[in-house]
Amino acid sequence: MSRLKDKVCIITGAASGMGEAEAFAFATQGAKLVIADLNIESAQQVADKIRQMGNEVLVVQVDITEKTQLENLVQTTLQHFGRIDVLLNNAGIFDKYINSLDTSEQLWDLVFNINVKSIFNLSNLVLPHMIEQKSGAIINIGSIAGLVAKMGGASYTASKHAVLGYTKHLAAEYGKFGIKINAICPGTIRTPMTAEMLKTRPTDKIPLDRFGEVNEVADLAIFLASDEAQFMSGACITIDGGFTSI
Ligand SMILES: NC(=O)c1ccc[n+]([C@@H]2O[C@H](COP(=O)([O-])OP(=O)(O)OC[C@H]3O[C@@H](n4cnc5c(N)ncnc54)[C@H](O)[C@@H]3O)[C@@H](O)[C@H]2O)c1
Repeated sequence: MSRLKDKVCIITGAASGMGEAEAFAFATQGAKLVIADLNIESAQQVADKIRQMGNEVLVVQVDITEKTQLENLVQTTLQHFGRIDVLLNNAGIFDKYINSLDTSEQLWDLVFNINVKSIFNLSNLVLPHMIEQKSGAIINIGSIAGLVAKMGGASYTASKHAVLGYTKHLAAEYGKFGIKINAICPGTIRTPMTAEMLKTRPTDKIPLDRFGEVNEVADLAIFLASDEAQFMSGACITIDGGFTSI
């Protein structure tokens, strides 16, 4: 299969969970990958396995809260591959359901810097190149916590609402350059981020009566990154087993 053949794709947070699954899924579709993560050891392990699949992979260690490191990520990608076709803003952290009164300013700033400001900074660094190419896809990993309350604490819920608002802004402003910008809103997905809390959580409020798997989100990301989704932009797509429909 080659739905992403030779597309240069940057995936943040690709060393674990959903990002790792997205990297493998994109690789099966012929993508050229840039694995961007703070955790360099895990990132290298993911990259090694993908190289064995025959794909070209670049690993860039990056703390996405540091703008200079994001600049280095984009420059290194352009030096190596010459273009950027897909930016998948996946990396994020959870706030463990901490309510507003118990949220410190430090936690609020950390969650917003990782979940929101990094997407703003990295998109602004990549957009000029996509505008010049007159093509590109940006996919932001939001959450159903960006649509309803109680799927995270104060900072996580607010941050994911911000991601969806920013996605719509980008889509409205940059669609005229042939760039499609969408968000994925996963429900509860089995990843290292959720592994502990899922041990005791029931699934009866989810119409499909189960949690999601990372490959299911990755399949949706492939579609949004591919030319099949050419008329999709500004969409915030839920993938939650029906949770937000009831
Ligand atoms: N797991 C779920 O149920 C769920 C549901 C909805 C949305 N999400 C979102 O999906 C995304 C991925 O979540 P996951 O469950 O795979 O998490 P995860 O913890 O398994 O992976 C997150 C990755 O991001 C990286 N990362 C964290 N901070 C970073 C930083 N400052 N700079 C660079 N990399 C950094 C980590 O090293 C890790 O590899 C997040 O945006 C999360 O909010 C997850």
